[in-house]
Amino acid sequence: MIIKPKVRGFVCVTAHPEGCAAHIQEWIDYVKAQAPISQGPKKVLVIGASTGYGLASRIAAAFGSNAATLGVFFERPSDEGRPATAGWYNTIAFTAAARAAGLYAKNLNGDAFSDEIKQKVIELIKADLGQVDLVVYSLASPRRTHPKTGATHKSVLKPVEAPYTNKTVDTDKGVVSQVTIEPASEQEVQDTIAVMGGEDWELWMNALSDAKLLAPGAQSVAYSYIGPEVTWAIYKNGTIGLAKNDLERAARNIDSLLKLNGGGRAFISVNKALVTQASSAIPVVPLYISILYKLMKAAGTHEGCIEQMYRLFATHMYNGHTPKFDEGGRVRIDDLEMRPEIQSAVQAIWPRVTTENLATETDIAGYRTEFLKLFGFGLPGVDYDARTEPHRPML
Ligand code: NAI
Repeated sequence: MIIKPKVRGFVCVTAHPEGCAAHIQEWIDYVKAQAPISQGPKKVLVIGASTGYGLASRIAAAFGSNAATLGVFFERPSDEGRPATAGWYNTIAFTAAARAAGLYAKNLNGDAFSDEIKQKVIELIKADLGQVDLVVYSLASPRRTHPKTGATHKSVLKPVEAPYTNKTVDTDKGVVSQVTIEPASEQEVQDTIAVMGGEDWELWMNALSDAKLLAPGAQSVAYSYIGPEVTWAIYKNGTIGLAKNDLERAARNIDSLLKLNGGGRAFISVNKALVTQASSAIPVVPLYISILYKLMKAAGTHEGCIEQMYRLFATHMYNGHTPKFDEGGRVRIDDLEMRPEIQSAVQAIWPRVTTENLATETDIAGYRTEFLKLFGFGLPGVDYDARTEPHRPML
């Protein structure tokens, strides 16, 4: 079939196999062009491995440190007349490249929140790897069925306590407008914490520890975001921020567990705001990202997922380094985003952005390019008018 982008609001419902492969190759090439990561991870479990920060972590580990990687994700294969999701094609491309380079790469597609997938991962690690020395927890999910209660929790992106009004952009139509979001109910807060908080990460780490699958000194990392005040009502102080506080609580518990396991550690890395499938769903944030990209590109400090993850590994976790923590015990690879000169420039632009000046005041073009790339569109060298086979078996 000939596959073109079909954008519906903040998602693209199609994905292009060759385009996704070309995108993944760009990330692999980036890592291969950097210095190898010395004393890097060797056997890595990535939970949420098919897109965004998790996929970038996997590529940094595999191609920066020759690591064996086991990836867990939840993606939809192709259907009659319908291409698979981008993460499906990304993973096939990654796995083929890793194996061609002589690296172990295996995948489990299924619900990471379930006991069943955890058990399958345990069996696979036992059979193939013995133990893992790094666990990356990078899930972003709209819902979670609790493995013990069977209840399905849905996460929401809402402020807490008071309604929140701010500018937002419809990235597809290029229209800037005011949006008012009503505060979450207490139940919605609890549900969001159940989905995006730290309980599942703890369940994973306890299960791996009980099965003796964590190598002495093993590390684990999960990702969070803080960002500037303009987004706090919807992010840091909103439902997702409360869930991230719970992720930090879990990090402390897991850190204690890993410290007893040969001096390992667990921590949160606060990453840069980037266009991913998860972030494009958050109101207000895409407008902030569009302004941020313009300023950081002009300053020469712009990074994508792969640059961020390589930097995390190369300057905080390995290469003879240990993590440099902020006062809250988090690693801050959002440091370049949060530089005062960048943030004061965001503050200056924010009030004056309108639909009319969106193209000049922000990098909305760059946002759209990056968004389409997530689904394998707009990559150089890919013939988007050619027929392609959407049905690709998982490797
Ligand atoms: P993403 O949407 O690109 O990736 C999410 C991953 O989770 C995919 O691999 C998906 O298959 C997997 N997944 C979702 N539900 C699953 C389930 N039930 N079972 C198994 N796998 C499942 O998201 P992104 O943006 O890379 O987010 C990853 C983490 O990074 C999140 O914790 C997010 O809050 C954090 N983060 C994101 C930032 C951003 O700007 N995008 C900034 C800072 C942190």
